[in-house]
Amino acid sequence: MTRHLLDIDDLGADGITEVLQVTDSFAEVARRAIPKVPTLRGKTVATLFFEDSTRTRISFETAAKRMSADVLSFAAGSSSLKKGESLRDTIETIEAMGIDAVIIRHPSSGVALQATRWLSDSAVVNAGDGWHAHPTQALLDLYTVRELHDGDDGCFRGLRVVIVGDVRHSRVARSQVAAYVAMGARVTLAAPATLMPPSVEGWGVDATNDLDEVLAEADVVSLLRIQEERGSGAFLPSLREYTAEFGLTADRAHRIRPDAVVLHPGPMVRGVEIASDVADLPNVHVTRQVANGVAVRMAVLFLLLGSGETSRAAGDVPPPPAPTHAGPTTANGGSRGS
Ligand code: CP
Repeated sequence: MTRHLLDIDDLGADGITEVLQVTDSFAEVARRAIPKVPTLRGKTVATLFFEDSTRTRISFETAAKRMSADVLSFAAGSSSLKKGESLRDTIETIEAMGIDAVIIRHPSSGVALQATRWLSDSAVVNAGDGWHAHPTQALLDLYTVRELHDGDDGCFRGLRVVIVGDVRHSRVARSQVAAYVAMGARVTLAAPATLMPPSVEGWGVDATNDLDEVLAEADVVSLLRIQEERGSGAFLPSLREYTAEFGLTADRAHRIRPDAVVLHPGPMVRGVEIASDVADLPNVHVTRQVANGVAVRMAVLFLLLGSGETSRAAGDVPPPPAPTHAGPTTANGGSRGS
């Protein structure tokens, strides 16, 4: 892994595989009676969320606490941003308090990258920037699929993944595409023409406006929310029409393969992209995704912070529990060649 995690492209196939393998160790921690390890003792992780979140913020904070890091939670709505302080001064102020990693979400694409230019020492993790990227969401999706294939790193090769919905405005879709394609999956985007990106040239995917044409062949059906906060409603005649053409209705749920995996990053809007009864079927793995998200984020924080030579020299950072891989070896800031 590189010094920061801004996008799936920072990882490539080797880096994705490394994160998934390290996640196995932290998933084992989650199953313990006391799911806590001292791996990041003495480190401080700040969550800077300038946009609403339930699962990503809580997941990162839970991950950091389970690794014994101190967690600083910044709330934009009650901060000095309200008094006119700039984003740069806000971020630099927080780093001045002695931060090792900044987890940042912002409605504008590129803010996580910009933060890396303002911060001197902290690792930056992109927790979602505008339409651009949400790498840990993609990683937890892949971990969930891999887990359902008995932890087989090769399970993605040739896997038929259909990503359905508001692809145009979705950072989740962009990171999912990058991750699945890097791992050898065959990805099809299914969306109304108005919610498809203007071009998917170079994405390495197929695209269709007819979900029913591709649904029956899918191994993974990954649903997206209509991004109302990014104006998606203006791209649709009505939500009712969207649901009729692209919702995972009970009728469509009967037509997917019995072993197909249904995923949704959340928040899920029942009755729009998925029928409420369908959302509770056993092959819909939304809560499994959330549970895996904590372990994936523990792995990401470990790879960014937990193997530093300073910490190692201090003798207080153990290797990840029950390691199943060679393990990262470089200090924070170094490349592990993946
Ligand atoms: N999937 C996701 O990013 O959810 P939140 O917006 O609740 O963090």
